[in-house]
This record gives sequence, C-alpha cells and structure tokens, in this order.
Amino acid sequence: MGTLDGKVAIITGAARGQGAEEARLFAGAGAHVVITDVLDEPGERTAGSIDGAEYLRLDVTSEEGWERVVADVVARHGRLDVLVNNAGIYSGGQLVNVRTEEWDRVIAVNQTGVFLGMRTAARAMIAAGNGGSIVNISSIAGMMGIFGGTAYGATKWAVRGMTKVAAKELGRHGIRVNSIHPGYIETDMLSEAGLDDQERLARTVPLRRMGTVTDIASMALFLAGETAAYCTGQEFVVDGGVWG
Ligand SMILES: NC(=O)c1ccc[n+]([C@@H]2O[C@H](COP(=O)([O-])OP(=O)(O)OC[C@H]3O[C@@H](n4cnc5c(N)ncnc54)[C@H](O)[C@@H]3O)[C@@H](O)[C@H]2O)c1
Repeated sequence: MGTLDGKVAIITGAARGQGAEEARLFAGAGAHVVITDVLDEPGERTAGSIDGAEYLRLDVTSEEGWERVVADVVARHGRLDVLVNNAGIYSGGQLVNVRTEEWDRVIAVNQTGVFLGMRTAARAMIAAGNGGSIVNISSIAGMMGIFGGTAYGATKWAVRGMTKVAAKELGRHGIRVNSIHPGYIETDMLSEAGLDDQERLARTVPLRRMGTVTDIASMALFLAGETAAYCTGQEFVVDGGVWG
C-alpha cells in the first residue's frame, strides 16, 4: 500500500529538477501523476521514465491553460487530489536595478501562476468533495530577505501568504494547503542563477551540504498524503539549517 494509492496529482514545472523528483516519489507511492511544464521534450522524457505518469503542456501563467488541464485530468481520471505548485523562475537584481518588465515576468510565473493553480484546483476539489492537498513551493527567500532578490523574494513571500489564506478558506472542504521553503538545492535553477560555487555555498549551510531534489520531494510527499492530515496553513523549511 502506497501513501498515495488511487490519488491523482498535478505537479507544475515537473519536466526536471525538484518537480521531476516529486513525480517519481508520488508515482512510487501509488499516485497517478500529471507532469506539466513548458519544456515539452524533457517533460515527455521524464513522464516516459515513470510508471504512472503522463505529460501535459501547461504554462502556469495561462488562465485558459489551467482550465483546460484541470478539466482534462478530472474528465479522464475522475478526480484531482493533489496539486504541487512547483514551477518557478529565478531573477536576481538589486532593488535599484530591477526593470519593471522583469518584475512583471517573475510575478506572472511565481505568484500569479500559484494563484491560478490554487483557484482552479480548489474549485475542482470542492466540486468532487474528496478533500485534497495543495503544496506550494516557496523558498527560504520567502522566510528572510535574500540580497539581490527583490522580485523573486516578493513572489516567494506572496506564496507563503496566499498559502495561509487559502488554508483558512479551504479547510472546511477538507483541503489542506501548505508551503515548502527549500534552501540551496542542486538543480539547473541554481546554476542558471550563477550560484556555481557550490562548495563555497555548502560551507555556509549548518549541515555542510547542498540540498538534493529528494530532500524537497520527500517533504512534498509527506504533505501530499494523509500522514500530514492535521497540517495546514504552515511553512515547512527544508534548508539544512540556514534560516532561523
Ligand atoms: N534550486 C533552488 O535552490 C531553489 C531554492 C528555493 C526554491 N526553489 C523553488 O523550487 C521550485 C523548483 O525549482 P527547481 O530548483 O527544480 O528549478 P528548475 O529550473 O529545474 O525547475 C523549474 C521548472 O519550472 C518550469 N517553468 C518555468 N516557467 C514556467 C511556466 N511559465 N509554466 C510552467 N512551468 C514553468 C521550468 O521549465 C522548470 O522545469 C521553483 O519554484 C523554485 O523557485 C528552488
């Protein structure tokens, strides 16, 4: 018996990185996993390597895209139990240098994407009446100020805040909503952000290592399933001890 037997989960931005590992762990726990992303070829490949997974294209900034994907999943699988809002982009830049177009781009993906995902999934979950679990991937940048992370930090604090409001509103429907706050995790995002010197970075972490995608996916699996039945509206920091 897996902890997600018979459940249907959508994970955004799951072609690679943390989302792909969440798809692997969720499918291993018995869920049918819908991997979504804007990277079609890696997305198809990741889904093809996991028993019980499929790939659908979804740009999280698209309201129409969300409506289409959630309706399709519910029509074909009869239910939607779990949503992981994992898709995200990083953007560096100190306050005085942030261009408005860049600000808008980061807000659209990291903040509006999570809002649209929660809204669309919650409507489907309420209609089905089976409860559900929504897991939002924030960051330690949503727990503290990160130098040079104006736009990114704004979105990750927003995700933390929206999580708490949604948990209050959706609790009576048996829908739990929590946020995960990863520290420095070895993925393409970190190298694309220019944080290549991982040995130096790891020395700033109390546990003296970078985080792995499995560190985060294990927490997502816990929050998705009934082991976390009494957890909602909370932030779960997984950062090797950096914050606090
Ligand atoms: N890597 C880290 O150190 C770290 C730390 C804290 C939080 N996070 C957060 O973890 C989450 C996952 O990131 P990751 O580390 O796996 O990086 P990643 O870059 O490997 O994964 C992000 C995924 O999101 C997808 N994506 C981007 N824009 C999208 C859009 N508009 N619609 C759909 N998908 C889109 C990308 O194609 C990619 O597959 C992100 O929300 C990120 O902000 C990462």
